[in-house]
Amino acid sequence: MSLFVRIFALNAVGLVAAAALLLGPVTVSTPVLPGEALTVLGGLAVLLAVNVLVLRVGLAPLGRLGRAMADADLLRPGARAVVSGPVETAALITTYNAMLDRLEAERAASAGRALSAQERERHRVARELHDEVGQTLTAVLLQLKRVADRAPGDLREELGQAQEATRAGLDEIRRIARRLRPGVLDELGLLSALRSLAGEFTTHGLTVRHDLRAGLPPLTEETELVLYRVAQEALTNTARHSGADRAELRLRPVADGIEVLVRDNGRGLGTAVREGAGIGGMRERALLIGGMLTIGAAGEGADGVGTAVRLRVPVKPVVLLGAGR
Ligand SMILES: Nc1ncnc2c1ncn2[C@@H]1O[C@H](COP(=O)(O)OP(=O)(O)OP(=O)(O)O)[C@@H](O)[C@H]1O
Ligand SMILES: [Mg+2]
Repeated sequence: MSLFVRIFALNAVGLVAAAALLLGPVTVSTPVLPGEALTVLGGLAVLLAVNVLVLRVGLAPLGRLGRAMADADLLRPGARAVVSGPVETAALITTYNAMLDRLEAERAASAGRALSAQERERHRVARELHDEVGQTLTAVLLQLKRVADRAPGDLREELGQAQEATRAGLDEIRRIARRLRPGVLDELGLLSALRSLAGEFTTHGLTVRHDLRAGLPPLTEETELVLYRVAQEALTNTARHSGADRAELRLRPVADGIEVLVRDNGRGLGTAVREGAGIGGMRERALLIGGMLTIGAAGEGADGVGTAVRLRVPVKPVVLLGAGR
């Protein structure tokens, strides 16, 4: 029943009952007698109580809708308000849910555009670093070597130092280019890229173990890139914030897809973590491929905390043409 009909019916019943009583057996004298006042106040109390009940029941779904609106977060999609209550409220909740569907789809599409523009730009910068700056420094290195071969003894040592500095610069540029664009992803595939990522983050203070299962379902290029970037950001966070000495990078097939997990035995996220561009980026990337990202305590570490970042990506089963023939 609609809220309009409910309120109207309630008011109508109250007013009609009052009119019928006044026209019938009930009389109100002037001044009012105690018995009459009691009857009027009793009737009023009953009317108000029923009014409160009808309004509370009718408006409760609006309160729930308000809370759902306040909690809505497009980076954690899928949560919808329960459609209930009188017709008007149910229609409002349905419209709100449809609006969320639209906004989430638009958000995913624009995040996709932004991320692929970002990847293209990284690609370009990495290529320019490698092809332009890298080649120039290589030429400088060769020139220095030629000069050093002909230089008098006292200059040779200084030229040697200049060669060393140039070589270090060249290595640094290669490292930056590799981080900007995971070339190994194109060349060797996801598993090798992740293995080399785990190696890169293994330093004297932190050991990153990897458990990368072979026999994964076929993945699109986009999915591979998202899995790689999420693992990269999670390991960067482990190295920067966790203070952990052990971390694990795991990739394995699960019932309906594939899961990448990065966990450490560090200090954990704490209670009031402020998500920055790193975690925000992971959420956006997960959305892009319909994945589910969860970040929480790993239940590890000296104080039983640690951090676990888990990304589950659904993979559509590949239909083998001709199978069963
Ligand atoms: N593995 C971790 N262990 C402990 N704290 C973490 C871990 N990962 C994230 N955090 C906390 O979560 C916060 C947000 O992480 P996020 O990656 O979003 O931002 P950031 O690393 O500070 O900056 P950036 O935008 O450069 O990534 C961090 O500042 C840190 O306090
Ligand atoms: Mg970060």
